[in-house]
Amino acid sequence: MSDILTIALSKGRILEDTLPLLAEAGIEPAEPPGRSRKLVLDTNREGVKIVILRATDVPTYVQYGAADLGVAGKDVLMEHGGRDLYEPLDLGIARCRMMVAGKPGANEGHDALRVATKFVNITRRYFAEQGRQVETVKLYGSMELAPLAGLADLIVDLVDTGNTLKANGLEPLEHIADISSRLIVNRAAMKMKHRRIKGLIDRLAAAVNARST
Ligand code: ATP
Ligand code: PRP
Repeated sequence: MSDILTIALSKGRILEDTLPLLAEAGIEPAEPPGRSRKLVLDTNREGVKIVILRATDVPTYVQYGAADLGVAGKDVLMEHGGRDLYEPLDLGIARCRMMVAGKPGANEGHDALRVATKFVNITRRYFAEQGRQVETVKLYGSMELAPLAGLADLIVDLVDTGNTLKANGLEPLEHIADISSRLIVNRAAMKMKHRRIKGLIDRLAAAVNARST
């Protein structure tokens, strides 16, 4: 196992919220992510690197040890399954809710409903636990369009302000889970690089606590 500590960060929304927290924990990228096409960034700390990934790839990199630590949304972790990962810290950023949504009353009735979502595993698990039969349709974005276009009765998607649902005549109907971003750690790295990883977890935890008080 290399001496380098590699931290995997999600592109997009989570990155903007993660960088200030990491900075408070003493780690800053040597150049702003996105300035160049570089995917591996050095940091102000000797032996600590940052890799910038698609959000859904972060758990995979950490699971296989290609990154020692990562930051991922709970939605992505629930969908991935979280095998071989520690999840020591809720960072409290990118908060939203995983919801079933649709036109008003679309979740009532007993016919097999069709549900469009990017989160097919979460969706199957949620409805199966309730003994409800649904057909899932995998989409990669703009879930809110599916009920309008007649592709599905319901969607399972992330909701924050509810504005996207409202703008499309849809309503949140059922709450599946509260979502925020989590720090995840590879199990082997946690043992082999314990001192450095524990130090980083403690500093991040202090930064998170300082915000909530
Ligand atoms: P990709 O482009 O890789 O498919 P994405 O478009 O889902 O990913 P983002 O929109 O940047 O990526 O969202 C990344 C994460 O941010 C999600 O996994 C979730 O944890 C969180 N998130 C998504 N939507 C919201 C929201 N409306 N409010 C707060 N957090 C959100
Ligand atoms: C997310 C989510 C919803 C929207 C909800 O999309 O998929 O569409 O946010 O937020 P609201 O309740 O505050 O309107 P995002 O903006 O990340 O776009 P994308 O997933 O399509 O990239």
